[in-house]
Amino acid sequence: MSDIVDLEAYGPDFVADPYPYYAKLRAQAPVHRARLSEGEEMWLVVGHDEARAALADPRLNKDWRATGRWPDTGDSPLFTNMLDADPPHHTRLRKLVAREFTSRRVDALRPRVQEITDELLDAMLAAPDGRADLVEALAFPLPMTVICELLGVPAPERAEFRAWSSEFVAPTGEEELQAATVAMAGYLETLIGHKRRTPGDDLLSALIRTSDEDGDRLSGEELVGMAFLLLVAGHETTVSLISNGVRALLRHPDQLAALRADLTLMDNAVEEMLRYDGPVESATLRFTAEEVEIGGTTIPAREAVLAVLASASRDPGRFPAADDFDIRRETRGHLAFGHGIHFCLGAPLARMEARIAIRALLERCPVLALDTDPASLSWRTGMLIRGTHHLPVRWAGAAQDTAAGAANATADSTADGALTG
Ligand code: HEM
Repeated sequence: MSDIVDLEAYGPDFVADPYPYYAKLRAQAPVHRARLSEGEEMWLVVGHDEARAALADPRLNKDWRATGRWPDTGDSPLFTNMLDADPPHHTRLRKLVAREFTSRRVDALRPRVQEITDELLDAMLAAPDGRADLVEALAFPLPMTVICELLGVPAPERAEFRAWSSEFVAPTGEEELQAATVAMAGYLETLIGHKRRTPGDDLLSALIRTSDEDGDRLSGEELVGMAFLLLVAGHETTVSLISNGVRALLRHPDQLAALRADLTLMDNAVEEMLRYDGPVESATLRFTAEEVEIGGTTIPAREAVLAVLASASRDPGRFPAADDFDIRRETRGHLAFGHGIHFCLGAPLARMEARIAIRALLERCPVLALDTDPASLSWRTGMLIRGTHHLPVRWAGAAQDTAAGAANATADSTADGALTG
């Protein structure tokens, strides 16, 4: 293991394209001691097998309160949730909602997801200049509407909710995070109080009623924590799956053409989008309960460990030609949804939404192009969520560019341009 890696020194290029940095780190060692931008030190696990092992290691705890050292975000009920819990607390919380997110349950939502997608695309394609920001038009409102309808969050309240939610996954400052924590907790407490008095036909009302098999009700804090986690995890991530996925397709004309020619490739294409440029760059922090050896490095007790999913999914030891975007490749083993007991509960829902959204987009836009210089895209901060704030696209007038772009595109398969299949 080498010296401390100073991620701050990497600068803005690291946020826009961290993959070359991770490749260098992986080539040196699978585990590194690192200093993050806020000055905190932790252990980065960048190798695939090591990250997978770390995510399933019962000696790495999720409940940071038990460590007493990190981070000090107060004792808001928001953090009484399964992703901040270890067994048996985690097991109990997850069991209470797991049945709502099985592939079968999620399949029943398919017609509504298609309907929302169609409405959003109708509105987007009505733009007279044939241009839109794909994040605002589709990638954000689709998962936000789906998870809010599922949980029963009224539409007018979603804008405020969006701003708080963003603060948790890509904080803009300590004060802003604190303010969002207080506002979000207050909002959810009021919402839950309202649903207690007037239950609806939604998951939150069901959770208020529900007892698990042992007759074990969720406490008030647990309800707030559950609602918080499901709402935030349920949309922040899927936005970037759709936008990063479309961006990858627009930058790889051969892959886009292959997908347009055979839409049965969609399921694997979405897996490749998750592997190649997934929305969750790093898992959430874990803490060593005792001294632990990972990839030949001994990590002392009570240390913070960050499994870097984006690096693991580009490890050439696991995925040959890992930096190539190839929608036909074997994608099994990518860690975009994590691994172990905290494996993403919403994976079936996220996959379904992305498949429907991207398929509908390609069908309704026979030509589609990026409508900006890719270097000008602005990226969400932090190492949790990977995605751009906006993704300007155009469909009108893209056809002419396509013919001209095709020749260049073959020369550089990563070139952005106006592309069609
Ligand atoms: C493309 C979209 C998504 C990605 C890439 C993603 C990724 C992840 C990852 C990596 C974890 C594990 C974090 C860790 O171990 O530190 C996780 C956990 C979780 N995700 Fe997702 N997620 C997505 C969408 C969703 C959706 C739509 C929901 C909706 C309910 C959801 C709910 C959850 C929950 C509840 C957990 C915690 C599970 C536990 O602690 O047992 N996610 N997700």
